[in-house]
Amino acid sequence: MLQVPIREQSGQSSTKAVILVGGPSRGTRFRPLSLDVPKPLFEVAGHPIIHHCLKAIAKVPDVREVILVGYYDESVFRDFLKDSSKEFPQFRMQYLREYTALGTAGGLYHFRDAILKGKPERLLVLNADVCCSFPLTEMLTLFEEKDAEAVILGTRVSNDAASNFGCIVSDSHTKRVLHYVEKPESHISNLINCGVYLFATECIFPAIRSAIKRRTTRPRLLSYPSSDNLESSFVAAAGDDDDTEKSEVLRLEQDILSDLADSNRFFVHETKDFWRQIKSAGSAVPANALYLQKAFQAQSEELTPPSATIVPPVFIHPTATVDPTAKLGPNVSIGPRAVIGAGARVKDSIVLEDVEIRHDACVMHSIIGWNGRVGAWARVEGTPIPIGSHSTSIVKQGVKVQSITILGKECGVGDEVRVQNCVCLPYKELKRDVANEVIM
Ligand code: GTP
Repeated sequence: MLQVPIREQSGQSSTKAVILVGGPSRGTRFRPLSLDVPKPLFEVAGHPIIHHCLKAIAKVPDVREVILVGYYDESVFRDFLKDSSKEFPQFRMQYLREYTALGTAGGLYHFRDAILKGKPERLLVLNADVCCSFPLTEMLTLFEEKDAEAVILGTRVSNDAASNFGCIVSDSHTKRVLHYVEKPESHISNLINCGVYLFATECIFPAIRSAIKRRTTRPRLLSYPSSDNLESSFVAAAGDDDDTEKSEVLRLEQDILSDLADSNRFFVHETKDFWRQIKSAGSAVPANALYLQKAFQAQSEELTPPSATIVPPVFIHPTATVDPTAKLGPNVSIGPRAVIGAGARVKDSIVLEDVEIRHDACVMHSIIGWNGRVGAWARVEGTPIPIGSHSTSIVKQGVKVQSITILGKECGVGDEVRVQNCVCLPYKELKRDVANEVIM
């Protein structure tokens, strides 16, 4: 007879997952693309960014519920959730909306009753804006092995880049986190926070509550000049406990993680696999490449088979039309109903819905926005991002420019026109050559 674990019999799941999706005031660096679609729903490698998170969560056996927490309008995720619940019937999904930006920890705390429903023992928390292979099962194994209160995913970056991230000092033998400092002023470690966490539910909510109490009793000691919501002083939180009636924006990174490091039960799982943040619009190009390469290694049937004109990995939406003489790849995604003409060349790029790339045009290291048109013999190009780089800007002729060329929605590039390292706002017609410009 099939043995059903007691937890399942009682309808309880022991791990719940939350994806922090932010809201419209976030994702400003993702402009001009976030003008037309909320960043978490922007498609890389043929799927919305948060679909890649769901796919990873689906591999964790005991997750029965995934909650998106953010402050976008309710309608934003409706279709996505409907489609995803068909694809991932193993978990219930819902979107919970904060009435204002409460911060990465504030949002969790605000919805603690919903999160704790069913008494999950563990809580997976994923920032929506990361691209990685999400080794969640490995994090879970470490969590169990160490009887941990918290496990954070870490990765090594260059010493120069480290101070742009949350830095983790750990014991390399025990993997215990000794210190955590968000964006330190001086170098402390090149092991950084990937924005993926596993918490014991019995520990994370009391830790947030302590931070709220500390803030209420010593508000001045806990102010952060970098916080967007610094000026917004106190905002009412959902709960009706005394200590939550007045609560500021609370961030896991600044307000909670360094405290957890004081416990002996906070550990880091270091991934050797790929990891990137998706912050600037240009960073969607390396994320697209990394997810396509992962799909290629997994021999995904979604990808177009290699041929004389397809250099893998390439994703072509089934409704797109690609002339057999066009050469695509590597690292190319072609969106729904796009039309790629004869002799066109597309490499390291994302071509969105309803784009037309006319014959003999060349598109490299670029994103072509919805309904865009690239004329015959035109050339739209960016500069390759060095492998391992965590930045998408470069200095050209003494000016900082985006390495990836981005055309916003419904931009047109004339025949034979060359566009190089430009960011172009929606609805522009480019009739002459342009380089290193933001076209407003
Ligand atoms: P920096 O990295 O500090 O520049 O800020 P950021 O806003 O780009 O990223 P942050 O580390 O603050 O956010 C990490 C993730 O949490 C992203 O996926 C954000 O969309 C999300 N997030 C940020 N603030 C909030 C919030 O107030 N509520 C919710 N639900 N999510 C948030």
